Amino acid sequence: MKGIILAGGQGTRLHPITLGVSKQLLPVYDKPMIYYPLSALMLAGITDIQIISSPDHLSMFRKLLGDGSWLGISLSYAEQDQPRGIADAFLTSADHIGNDSVALVLGDNIFHGSRFGTLLQQATQNVEGCVLFGHPVREPERYGVGELDERGNLVSIEEKPTSPRTNLAITGLYLYDDTVVDIARGLQPSERGELEITDINRIYLERGEATLIPLGRGFVWLDTGTNEALMEAGQYVQVLQHRQGVRIACVEEIAWRMGYIDREACYRLGSRLAQSPYGRYIMEVTQIDQSEQEYGISRAAQVLT
Ligand code: DAU
Repeated sequence: MKGIILAGGQGTRLHPITLGVSKQLLPVYDKPMIYYPLSALMLAGITDIQIISSPDHLSMFRKLLGDGSWLGISLSYAEQDQPRGIADAFLTSADHIGNDSVALVLGDNIFHGSRFGTLLQQATQNVEGCVLFGHPVREPERYGVGELDERGNLVSIEEKPTSPRTNLAITGLYLYDDTVVDIARGLQPSERGELEITDINRIYLERGEATLIPLGRGFVWLDTGTNEALMEAGQYVQVLQHRQGVRIACVEEIAWRMGYIDREACYRLGSRLAQSPYGRYIMEVTQIDQSEQEYGISRAAQVLT
């Protein structure tokens, strides 16, 4: 399965902050925003990932993440010259996707919950149709909204409805089979001139091939599109990390625990950032784990994002 991180758009709701920098590179507490969606794909076991952004910003993503080899993964880059809609990602990345299935994650979405990696690894096995993830929210009218029947079957999808049927927001993580590029090619732009992800999902729904996995209340899904949401996301990460002593979305640690790089390589990545608490955490976690393993305790099953 291929991965795509959509990290374009103008970030207009965050102006003037985003006049000079990409929204998805803004800090969410101690790391760039894009580390969070990148972690989700890496935890799912996806290692061939394309990052889509605007021509102005792509060079900054390249500088930050390079070709991904330092994380034992492959990262490529594609330009979206205009924000033509989320579903435009499948046209922009058609060559990258090829005949494979694909996971698309929005570059401003943050997921955190127990056993998230395992859940994703299961969901990404043999995707047929599309798989969406739902999360209860207080203001569903701000999102795509899904409705399930009593047996858990998805029965309707609406984009930002004025009167939502449920409080189940559709998150910005989507899994598709190998027909999604063809579906995107046949899509008409919406009234606001965009190729809407909800239109793609509705086509799968009409075919009876759309599944929605509800992420329960113990799960956290945050978006970072407004000043308040961005601040809250940073506070969430800070409180959790401070309390638990583990870092959320530390891509180096995830690369090591997923087996993409070895312990020594991970330690070296940390030592390059040794002036920061983030870098020192990587150095410490690789060492602590070693001594724990000597006593037969393995933390490798811990879910980190
Ligand atoms: O966050 C989940 C929600 O994301 C879903 O519930 C909605 O169904 C979905 O439409 C989307 O809603 P948003 O209002 O958040 O979409 P927005 O247009 O803000 O785009 C989401 C991100 O994708 C944003 O960070 C910028 C990026 N983007 C967006 C468009 C339209 C691009 O990179 N290129 C684009 O053309």
